[in-house]
Amino acid sequence: MWTFTLPTKIQFGAGVSKSCAQVARDYGRRPAVVTGKTLVKTDRVRSIISDLGEVPVFSEVTPNPTVNQVDALARLIREQGCDVVIAIGGGSPIDCAKAASALVLSEESSIAAFFGGGKPLGAEHLPLIAIPTTSGTGSEVTPIAVLDDPANSRKAPLSGPALYPVHALVDPELTLSLSRYTTAATALDALSHALEGYWSKNHQPICDLAAIEAARRIFANFERACTDPGDLQARTELSCAALLAGMAFQLPKNAMVHACSFPLSTRHHLAHGAACAFTLEFAVQFNAPALGERFGDLARACHFSSAEAMAERIHTFKRLGGLPCTLADAGIAPEDLPELVLASFHPLMNNNPREVTKEDLGRMYGGLS
Ligand SMILES: [Fe+2]
Repeated sequence: MWTFTLPTKIQFGAGVSKSCAQVARDYGRRPAVVTGKTLVKTDRVRSIISDLGEVPVFSEVTPNPTVNQVDALARLIREQGCDVVIAIGGGSPIDCAKAASALVLSEESSIAAFFGGGKPLGAEHLPLIAIPTTSGTGSEVTPIAVLDDPANSRKAPLSGPALYPVHALVDPELTLSLSRYTTAATALDALSHALEGYWSKNHQPICDLAAIEAARRIFANFERACTDPGDLQARTELSCAALLAGMAFQLPKNAMVHACSFPLSTRHHLAHGAACAFTLEFAVQFNAPALGERFGDLARACHFSSAEAMAERIHTFKRLGGLPCTLADAGIAPEDLPELVLASFHPLMNNNPREVTKEDLGRMYGGLS
């Protein structure tokens, strides 16, 4: 048995973000804009904001959005009487905006009430328009917000139907100025979503289709986007792939790669995509035998003859993007490994198609020294 749902209206294409003001009027009268400190100074984001008129702008979102930032944004939305939220950015501003859009219609003043095993989020939320500026998280089509709770050294996903954006404007032109590092990290985050959605124990046929197509497009266009940032066609392929990868994992959910990524981000400060990429090639080789013919279908679609060949290509991508490949690159000391292994057993690990033991992770990290 399986269920497929996607309540988000998607508009895709170069220049589509220019219709933001018009789209916002369909959902409310007073928008709030959520973005990042650097993004808010860019011409494209300033242009989107100026089309909206005089609106409150929250640009305090950091790369790992915190519980406190969600609470501050919710206070701003309430004080300003906003009735629609527009998130412009990578996964961080979008995730922060998702959580705040749900929080403002609850009786709580802090998202902490719902985070890390707290009470479930209700279904109510302000309409949220998501405009991704990276091709990575797929957050524009998922009911998931990954939040950081530094006071408790915890980074974890919050999920619920209230977190689906109502509308996504996916404009590849917004990704043209991404650095090589960010292009690589975000594309490998998207590849992780595609592969993990595909091999999750909860995989299902509609998400499988999206996963295979997303992975195929990433393998075919990664190098072009990294080496020629202005290549709009390659950027368009990666934007489409990230969107499809978001659709691929949002219902099956991620598995061992994302479970391992959380302590790599919170304890060792790797960017989310770099943290996913850190273990991705090991996971491909570890999980392939458990997938049988299903792995063959995926590998053939992506033009690989074996799991080893796919893993090798991922390694090449990481080198090209300047992402950490070894423990030393990531600033992880050998004596950190026992705690890192223990902290990797997030519940997402239970979705992995092959059981993962502490010894398996010890072997994986040992191989990266
Ligand atoms: Fe991710």
